[in-house]
Amino acid sequence: GAIELGPYRHYMQKEIFEQPRAISDTLEGVLGFTPELFGPKAEAVFNDIDSVLILACGTSYYSGMTARYWLESLAGLPTSVEIASEYRYRKPAVNPNTLVVVISQSGETADTLAALKYAQELGHKHSLAICNVGTSAMVRETELSYLTRAGAEIGVASTKAFTTQLTALFLLTATLAKMRGRMDAEAEAFHLKNLRHLPNALQSVLALEPHIIAWSEAFARKEHALFLGRGLHYPIALEGALKLKEISYIHAEAYPAGELKHGPLALVTEDMPVVTVAPNDTLIEKLKSNMQEVRARGGQLYVFADGDSQMHSSEGIHVIRLPEHYGLLSPILHVVTLQLLAYHTALARGTDVDKPRNLAKSVTVE
Ligand code: G6P
Repeated sequence: GAIELGPYRHYMQKEIFEQPRAISDTLEGVLGFTPELFGPKAEAVFNDIDSVLILACGTSYYSGMTARYWLESLAGLPTSVEIASEYRYRKPAVNPNTLVVVISQSGETADTLAALKYAQELGHKHSLAICNVGTSAMVRETELSYLTRAGAEIGVASTKAFTTQLTALFLLTATLAKMRGRMDAEAEAFHLKNLRHLPNALQSVLALEPHIIAWSEAFARKEHALFLGRGLHYPIALEGALKLKEISYIHAEAYPAGELKHGPLALVTEDMPVVTVAPNDTLIEKLKSNMQEVRARGGQLYVFADGDSQMHSSEGIHVIRLPEHYGLLSPILHVVTLQLLAYHTALARGTDVDKPRNLAKSVTVE
C-alpha cells in the first residue's frame, strides 16, 4: 500500500514515473545490436527469416503496430501485425520463414498464447517473445525471447510495459537491420546513443506534468475525445485513446489524421477536444492542414508538439511542446504525455484509476 506508493497517489502514476528506470533496466547490458541479445539460436534464426508477423492484444498490440514502421523502414522486412484473437480463428496463408513475434506484458494472455500455438501448428518455424515475465508461458513456448525489465506492473492500464516493449522492439529492429547490411557502424553508434539518452529525455517529458494537469480539467468535463496521429505516431494516438477510455470512461477514438475527412470530421464541434500527436517529422505539414480542417469546424485542438515544430498556441489551439525532437524513437516520449493526460483526467473525474470497472490486468481466459 502506502509505503510502496511513496509520493504517488496510484500505481499507475508511480509506474508512469518509473519509465526512465524501466527503460534503462531494459537496456542494461546492451553494448551493441547483436543477435545474442535474443537467445543463443537467434543468429541462425534471424538469418533464416524474410518477414515478421506480430501477434498481441491491447496495449501490446499497439507497440507491435509501432514496430511495424521500424521493421519495414530500417530492417526492410515485410511486417504484419494482427490482433491475436482474430488471427487464431482464421485461415492465414503461411510463410515458414516468417518470424512470429508475440508481445505481452504478462506472457499469459490466453488469446496471444493460443495465436502463437496456432501459428506454430500451421508451420511457422520461428518465434520470439517480447515479455515482461521471464517465467511465463509465452517465454517457454518460443525459441527466442527478450525480457523487458519494467518490473511488476500493478495498474490495469499498461504504461511502463508499453514503453519497455517499444525499447525492446527497437533493439530487435536495429539488430535485424544490422544483420541485413542496412546499418553501418556509424548508424549503430547513433541509435545506441539515442537509446541510452532516452531515460533523460523521458525525465524532461515527465516534467511537463503540471501543463498536462491544466489540460485535464477541460477534458474531465467532456464525454468524447478524438486523437490524431500520423505514421509512427498513429499507434501512439490509438494508445492515448485507449488509456483515456480505460480509466476515465470518456469515449475516445483515434484516427490517422489523413482519414479525418472520411468520417470523423462529421463529429467535430467545439465540444470535441482533438488531441494531436505532432512531432516535427516528415508528415508535419500534412498534419497541420488536418488541424486546420478541425479548427474550421470549431474543434478545440490539444497539440503535443516538440522542440523543432513551429507550432504555437492560438485561438482554439493549445500546444504543449516536448523538449526534444527524437526521430524514430519519438513514440516512446510522446506516449508518456498521453498517459499523463489520461491519468489526470481520470483523477479529476474520481474514477478508480488502478482498477477500472470491467477490466482485468491479465486476461487468461478467452
Ligand atoms: C489486458 C490489460 C491491458 C493489456 C492487455 C494485453 O487487457 O488490461 O493493459 O495491454 O491485457 O496483456 P498482455 O499481458 O498480453 O500484454
